[in-house]
Amino acid sequence: MSTAIPSTLTAGPLVSPQDQTEIQRRRTFAIISHPDAGKTTLTEKLLYHGGVIHETGEVKGKSGTKAVTSDWMELERQKGISITSSVMTFDYNQLRINLLDTPGHKDFSEDTYRVLMAVESACMLIDVAKGVEERTKKLYDVCRLRNIPIFTFVNKLDREGKDPLTLIDEIEKTLNMQCYPVTWPLGIGQRFKGIYNRLTKKVLFYNQRREDDSFEEFDFSGPQDPILEKYLDHETVQQVRDELELIESALPPFDVQDFLDGKISPVTFGSAKQNFGVNTFLDFFTQYAPPPCARMTLKNETITPLSQNFSGFVFKIQANMDKRHRDRIAFLRICSGKFERGMKVQHARLQKELRLSYSSQFVAADKETVDIAYAGDIVGVGDTGNFAIGDTVSSNGKVAYEDIPKFAPELFAKLSVRDALRRTKMNEALKHLSEEGAIQLFVDPIIGHQEYIVGVVGELQFEVLQHRLMDEYNIEVKMTRLGFSVARWPRNSEGKAVHQLKGNFNLFVDMIEQPVILLNQEWDLNWAQKENPDVVFATSISRAR
Ligand code: G4P
Repeated sequence: MSTAIPSTLTAGPLVSPQDQTEIQRRRTFAIISHPDAGKTTLTEKLLYHGGVIHETGEVKGKSGTKAVTSDWMELERQKGISITSSVMTFDYNQLRINLLDTPGHKDFSEDTYRVLMAVESACMLIDVAKGVEERTKKLYDVCRLRNIPIFTFVNKLDREGKDPLTLIDEIEKTLNMQCYPVTWPLGIGQRFKGIYNRLTKKVLFYNQRREDDSFEEFDFSGPQDPILEKYLDHETVQQVRDELELIESALPPFDVQDFLDGKISPVTFGSAKQNFGVNTFLDFFTQYAPPPCARMTLKNETITPLSQNFSGFVFKIQANMDKRHRDRIAFLRICSGKFERGMKVQHARLQKELRLSYSSQFVAADKETVDIAYAGDIVGVGDTGNFAIGDTVSSNGKVAYEDIPKFAPELFAKLSVRDALRRTKMNEALKHLSEEGAIQLFVDPIIGHQEYIVGVVGELQFEVLQHRLMDEYNIEVKMTRLGFSVARWPRNSEGKAVHQLKGNFNLFVDMIEQPVILLNQEWDLNWAQKENPDVVFATSISRAR
């Protein structure tokens, strides 16, 4: 079953029935996980099942023997973490699946948030031995902000780990989310032999010598089915029977609506490395993942993805993917209609017409020109400086989607270059990187634009910044950390900028000339609030459109 898209939300005409079918078959999702839980490995297996790669091991890992397809940047390779997010597309069960990668590192949760704005669902990956880790929790909280449905995949069942009942209890308690086990593992670690699919009432036993990913499938009549004795040792049979008796009696049937509302998370078990349980997850995913959803505009109108009016928003900008060409690509999530390369669109914020002539889709670093794409898809469009994160384009110019809020930076620094002549070049580079959303820039009005204050959310972003300035712009910078840790945008009750504050508070401006106070500590914020009781100190603001 999959939810049909309501087509009556906009009064305007819809795309052709053929294009409607294309839109209905799109599924766009992201995987979130703590580093090392197996995101790269699972992604690889999904691409394998989708026929994009033909041998596992083509997508590269971190240990150096393989190169991570989704990791573009040198630093990512050095550090073995995924910083930027990429998009991968594959077909499975007649559906077109767009998988968006998310950075696992905590310093990049803002990037994750932006990616989650562009998907309809997420898959939370959990290591069976480690359970809910610190990053899983933070990323889960980001998911909750968006209220999207979450699948859970418990990975590394081929290793010893927590027993499934304890793990489910831990997920439910730590994340305050109800779980619904769709599959159940038959053994764990050395004893892991297969899984029981509770929805199809079938058991799957994997190739026992683990030399390939073949499996045998049987109907399963219930916990007492003798098939268990054929494949599992006596102790495991007993444990599986006890567990199944317990969950079968305690759990109500799977409620799709509760899942779509984000109230329950369906859980599947497997081993990404052994390619066990990945197909079961994909079958379940393709049956229940929501198709492109209707989206709300700033004017509170709801636009159906089936609308003939093409619309989309930029959720990510990536500069210098190809250093030789100094290119800049804006990643556009198509929200409604059909994209055709070369089409003219209206840019809502700039009130300007643009032609989208250069457009590509990605399997990580491999770029392919795309001529046609549909609501639900992500296309990368060439950008000559027109786009900022959150911008909407549409064919009738009347659509502007909700802004993507920025996270308030907590770390601040000034950068300097040894050779003063290169300062202009550095400032240009900083401006590029701030438009990408990699950093935020602030200006002291007394000094002006010759010297920026750089703000970031996490420590590693500074490291990436220095690395990219060197690698992409050939600028070596010295960084001086500043004592600020809080940035707030003072607004009045109508949301308008406040340009003067009572008390001795220095006002800076951001890159769209909005006043900001930078403070050393939270305590100073209490003081500012006391002195200026009518002022709202916002953690972020929407850009005027
Ligand atoms: P990440 O992207 O979430 O950070 O994780 P990644 O896929 O890189 O996996 C982290 C490590 O966990 C890798 O080991 C990977 O092989 C291993 N792994 C992933 N899934 C499974 C699984 O289902 N079972 C087992 N046993 N291991 C799994 P590594 O030693 O860092 O790299 P490699 O040399 O194995 O490639």
